[in-house]
Parts: sequence; structure tokens; C-alpha cells
Amino acid sequence: MFRALRPAFKSPDKRELSSLFLYAAVAIPFFYLPALLYGPHTNFAVIDNWRFWIIHLWVEGFFELFATVLVAIMFHQMGVVSTKTATRLIYLDAILYLSAGIIGTGHHWYFTGQGTLNMGLASCFSAMEVVPLTLLTLDAWDFIKLRKAQCSTCGQDLAWSQKWSIYFLMAVGVWNFVGAGVFGFLINLPIVSYFEVGTSLTANHAHAAMFGVFGMLALGVLVFCLRAMQSDGTWKEMEKFIRVGFWGANVGLALMIILDLFPGGVIQLWDSIANGYWHARRLTFLMGGTYHKLEWLRMVGDVVFLLAGALPITLGVLRSLWKRDLSPTP
Ligand code: HEM
Ligand SMILES: [Fe+2]
Repeated sequence: MFRALRPAFKSPDKRELSSLFLYAAVAIPFFYLPALLYGPHTNFAVIDNWRFWIIHLWVEGFFELFATVLVAIMFHQMGVVSTKTATRLIYLDAILYLSAGIIGTGHHWYFTGQGTLNMGLASCFSAMEVVPLTLLTLDAWDFIKLRKAQCSTCGQDLAWSQKWSIYFLMAVGVWNFVGAGVFGFLINLPIVSYFEVGTSLTANHAHAAMFGVFGMLALGVLVFCLRAMQSDGTWKEMEKFIRVGFWGANVGLALMIILDLFPGGVIQLWDSIANGYWHARRLTFLMGGTYHKLEWLRMVGDVVFLLAGALPITLGVLRSLWKRDLSPTP
């Protein structure tokens, strides 16, 4: 990345955004390093401490920061925001996200021996993460308006050619709100976590937030790059793969959640409160009754996701590589 960005560091207009992009990218492998601090014989509480140092600080810290920088740069490339606005947005997001997100790490350590101070601070600060998330959701609304925005002097649609990357960014905003904001908040209070930790409501939140936000973001960036490699004519043929893939991935993910992960999670939480945590995690509970039937039902969502989401996008990518007729603008 450094090699690719080096020319941009020389231009005063591009220097700041490019360096922020590089720092945000470097933070991701850097925060993986704690994985080297434990081994198979380390105490479980210590392992869990470092494990969430990685997971949490990635997904609720540096991935979010990277996503903001990336989206700001994409909009800057499309010509719809100035360098100044893009840079301000990145700093604001970094302050809001990292201040709540770093102390919020402790919402994974409620029951790993870190005491009540951690519980109090972490539950409050992680609850505050919903504020920047809501701001990002408002961004999704701006993306919708942006799709229709026209250049005031030339009358041309500004972001028309990047319609499908904007759709993916809209999906990021919506899933951020539902998956991280609503489903994350749902399991965040210590009293809920006590009965719920590591059950299907965790998987429910993790799927909606992880694929919903960062999966969709990755696809948005993929489409952004594919589009830049093709002329309008070639892209017209290609668009249908992306259109089907976009709806397939979103509807498939929503079906996994509606048919299984959310109702299954509620049933499991109910059982945990009624009969005890141990009971709700027994194999006899997991492999029987309504909980198990819902798991079979989930296959509908999985099949839609794979056949109508993953497959058309893969075909579209292969086709684009074959048919590309433009070289991307630097
Ligand atoms: C895009 C943002 C987010 C992503 C991608 C994400 C992803 C995840 C994942 C993958 C896990 C499971 C980790 C594991 O058990 O190994 C998890 C757990 C958890 N998340 Fe999030 N998360 C996000 C935002 C949030 C927010 C904003 C909150 C709270 C307000 C939250 C609260 C929690 C809690 C309490 C757990 C622990 C549940 C448990 O261990 O049972 N998350 N998250
Ligand atoms: Fe977290």
C-alpha cells in the first residue's frame, strides 16, 4: 500500500487523506499482534482478554475508522466532497468512535474477572457507540440523495456511474444500524450478557454486523474498482450480475436472521433465564425442539445468499476481468 500511495504523498492536495488511509490500514494488522501474546496453555481469562482486544478493537474501532476513511476517499474520487470535508469527517469519526470504542472493549470482559469498575465503564461507553453509528446511518440517507445529485453547472448525474457501489454503501449504513446498533445494543447490558453471552443472539448480532457492515463494504469497494475498469457500454452488460448479487446477498442475510438467528436466539435466552445457562447450551437443547427446526429453516437464507448473492457477484467479477476495457484512473 505504501508503494501505491507514495506518489500521492508528494501532492499537497492528496497528502493528508492518503496518509490517513495508510494509518487506518496499518492499525488493522497492528491490532492483530496481541494474538501472539497467548498460547494453548494460557489461562482462559487471559486468552479471552487478548482475544477481544483483537475482535472488539477491530470491529468497533479500527475497521470502522478504515471504513470511514475509505468512504470519504471514494466520495472524494467521485468528486462529490472536497478534501477539507472528507478530512474533517474522518477526524470527527475517529474522535467519536475511538473514545467510546476503546473503553467499550470491556463489554467482552464482564465475566472474565475484571471487576465492577470495568463493568460500569464498559457498559456505559459501549452504549455510547450507538451515537456515531446513528450518525453513519444518517449518512446512508445522504447516499440516497447523492444518488440523485446533479452537477450544478453541467447538469450531469454526479455519481450515476457508481450507482451500485453507492447501493452497497447504503446497505452498510442500514446494517450498521440494525446489526451493530440494535442487535449489538440488545446484548450489551451486563444483566442481559450474564444470561446470553455466547448464545445465538451473539451470532445474530455478529452476522448482521460483520457481513452487513464489512462484507457489504468490501463488495462496495470491489464494485467501485470493477466499474472504473469498464466503459459505459461494457458495464451495461455487467450491471445485471451486480444487481442480482446485491439483492441476493442482502435478502439472503436478512432471511438467515429473520428465519433462524433472531428467533432461535430469543428461544435460547428464554431457556437460559428459565432453566439456567447450562441448560440452554446442552446438546439435547441445541439438537431438538423448535430451536433445531429453525436451524433447518435457515437453509433458505443460506441458499438465497449463495445462489443469488455470492454466485452472480463471482461471475460478474470473472466477466469484468475478462472484458475490462479501461485502465483505472490513478
Ligand atoms: C460493525 C460493528 C460491529 C461488528 C462487526 C461486531 C461484531 C461482533 C462479533 C463478530 C462478535 C462475536 C465475537 C465472539 O464471540 O467471538 C460480537 C460480540 C459482541 N458485540 Fe459486537 N460488533 C459490532 C458492534 C457492536 C456494538 C455497537 C455493540 C454494543 C453497543 C456490540 C456489542 C457486542 C457484545 C456485547 C458482544 C459480546 C456478546 C457475547 O460474547 O456473547 N457490538 N460483535
Ligand atoms: Fe465489542
